[in-house]
Amino acid sequence: MMNLPEEPMQKRATVAELNYLANLDEIPVFAQSDRIGESIRVNDNRAPRDVPIINARLLPQTFSLDVEGFTLSGQITKVTDFNDDGQLVGIYTPEIEDLIARAAGGTSAVVFDHTRRSTDRAHREKYASRDPVPAPHSDYTDTSAFQRMRDKFGDAEAEDRLARRFSIVNAWRSMGGTIEQWPLTVCDARTIDESRLTQTRREAPVRPDPSFEYNRSSETRHAIFDPAHTWCWFPRMTADEVLLFKNFDTRTDGTARYALHSAFQDPDIPANPAPRETIETRAFVFYD
Ligand SMILES: [Fe+2]
Repeated sequence: MMNLPEEPMQKRATVAELNYLANLDEIPVFAQSDRIGESIRVNDNRAPRDVPIINARLLPQTFSLDVEGFTLSGQITKVTDFNDDGQLVGIYTPEIEDLIARAAGGTSAVVFDHTRRSTDRAHREKYASRDPVPAPHSDYTDTSAFQRMRDKFGDAEAEDRLARRFSIVNAWRSMGGTIEQWPLTVCDARTIDESRLTQTRREAPVRPDPSFEYNRSSETRHAIFDPAHTWCWFPRMTADEVLLFKNFDTRTDGTARYALHSAFQDPDIPANPAPRETIETRAFVFYD
């Protein structure tokens, strides 16, 4: 049976701080250290803003990856330990590819990385997991999305796939208990103005395949404040729930191309919250 939150939170919205960029003048650089447990180094200029974040559990559950750019799905996984790479490959990858393809309306999905995150330093040191990222961003630019395709499939196969529609979808879920702190908020794609985003350099050592981590140099997009942004979250997600959100789409016809996302701290978290331990998986989605 699926575990849903025991007490659906009734407040319609919270107000929390999001670390927007202060301006678009410089290209920010995020440098991922190769030292286990060490946090990312960031050189940029932030202007944190308090913003309303809507409790999406109280809205009609009609969210779509192609409209809002995010949706919540239920899934009972057969994985018993997300820290076990063998289970990620053998059990989780096919499970989540199936869920992502169906939710996206695609014909297939191909996972290309898994990233564990924990607020607990001991977990980060033991499993090379990462901190949550508390800044509004999207994981790809057009350039880095196409490059990731070439990295994954090689030039010849990528050329064939790049000739048709594809998207990149992230699947985010708890690795264990209910999310009690640092949940993820997603921004309705229809409220994002691309001119208020800047390309951001992400520097990281490349881990050879098979690597399950988002560990390579790339380009992402970060945002300056925009009062039009509509932020949503699903409070107290359980391990049987998966937040899916778009990070790229080749379509430019008004289909959602990406939902900005950010970790944030809800002011109403319980006392002594459990560590936030999550796994996010990135996959290409194909449509024919
Ligand atoms: Fe991200």
